[in-house]
Amino acid sequence: MTLPAFYTDKTVLITGHTGFKGSWLATWLKMLGARVIGFSLPPEEGRPNLFEAANVEKGMTSITGDIRDLPSFINTFNAHSPEIVFHMAAQSLVRRSYTEPVETYATNVMGTVNLLEAVRNTPSVRSVVVITSDKCYENREWVWGYRETESMGGHDPYSSSKGCAELVTQVYRKSFFTNKGQVGIASARAGNVIGGGDWAEDRLIPDIARALSSNKPVVLRRPNAIRPWQHVLEPLRGYLMLGEHLWKQSDDFSEAWNFGPRDEETITVREMTERIIQHWGSGELVIGGADDLHEAHYLKLDCSKARAKLGWRPLLTIDEALEMTVAWYRSYLEDPGSAGSTTASQINGYMERLSR
Ligand SMILES: NC(=O)c1ccc[n+]([C@@H]2O[C@H](COP(=O)([O-])OP(=O)(O)OC[C@H]3O[C@@H](n4cnc5c(N)ncnc54)[C@H](O)[C@@H]3O)[C@@H](O)[C@H]2O)c1
Repeated sequence: MTLPAFYTDKTVLITGHTGFKGSWLATWLKMLGARVIGFSLPPEEGRPNLFEAANVEKGMTSITGDIRDLPSFINTFNAHSPEIVFHMAAQSLVRRSYTEPVETYATNVMGTVNLLEAVRNTPSVRSVVVITSDKCYENREWVWGYRETESMGGHDPYSSSKGCAELVTQVYRKSFFTNKGQVGIASARAGNVIGGGDWAEDRLIPDIARALSSNKPVVLRRPNAIRPWQHVLEPLRGYLMLGEHLWKQSDDFSEAWNFGPRDEETITVREMTERIIQHWGSGELVIGGADDLHEAHYLKLDCSKARAKLGWRPLLTIDEALEMTVAWYRSYLEDPGSAGSTTASQINGYMERLSR
């Protein structure tokens, strides 16, 4: 893999750069020497966020904008002529999608349409990676891994909006990006990610970190649920590899890609919480809390294609991912000013592992 060299001096636009994954990706791309442009709503008020904590804005161009507003999106593309685009902006929470379905569809579906329109208007773009989710699949509640060819679906507004974003991407590819060797457009379907600096509502790691940092018990609603957790750097590496491959051979990589953990690395919510408490050194776990919303059973991704064609596979064990995550929050707790350096040093450590 030529990741480090490839991104040097490339102009890369990230939508959703003020979010959790976007902040990690912007930091990584800056470290690789890319010119990074971000287009996003500002971070949500009322809780900490990685974007501000790690001063991600420094060394990049950060633009505040709404992906539902096509003209301002197009202006940004015109002004900065990006070559590679990672589309991450989204209403990303399942539970919130039940209370804000209209906003969820407007952002996740029309936002993707607007992104692809902006790309259509910008000749400089050569690679586009649309980030959706493993939840885009119609969950048939079976035990086999889902392949990229499986039907789209989704039981809740968030999941179905991600299935719709996949369909939109497919249609734009077939209708408007038909010239061989031009823009490469891929979509990426990853599962739940973990890592330092996530403070979103109703996500397990932020909930655990909040409880442990304030010496309160961790309350689990669904202790037996299994989720395909992996460290945030794992799918981000997949997205970066896709961006590079689309640039070099757009026709061979313009399709959908799964990025998920190895089978043996999937554990229950309870096991995961117990291991985090162990890494943290103290803490208590209790089962409780009402939960009346439907949540799909474990959906496993078949990542054979990413392994065979991209050469991507998970690098970290779940324990290594948890250890890194706990180390991040611990160091933030001791010194909030360390967020940027901890993030960068974890990316460096990961790249060193890769090069070995
Ligand atoms: N975190 C996960 O476990 C996970 C799992 C699978 C897929 N994903 C997907 O990955 C992407 C990034 O996830 P995340 O965890 O960083 O989410 P996040 O909620 O932390 O960040 C979302 C980003 O999108 C921006 N945004 C939201 N609405 C916008 C709008 N109308 N206009 C412009 N910007 C807007 C926010 O400002 C933020 O920068 C999302 O598409 C999400 O659905 C995340």
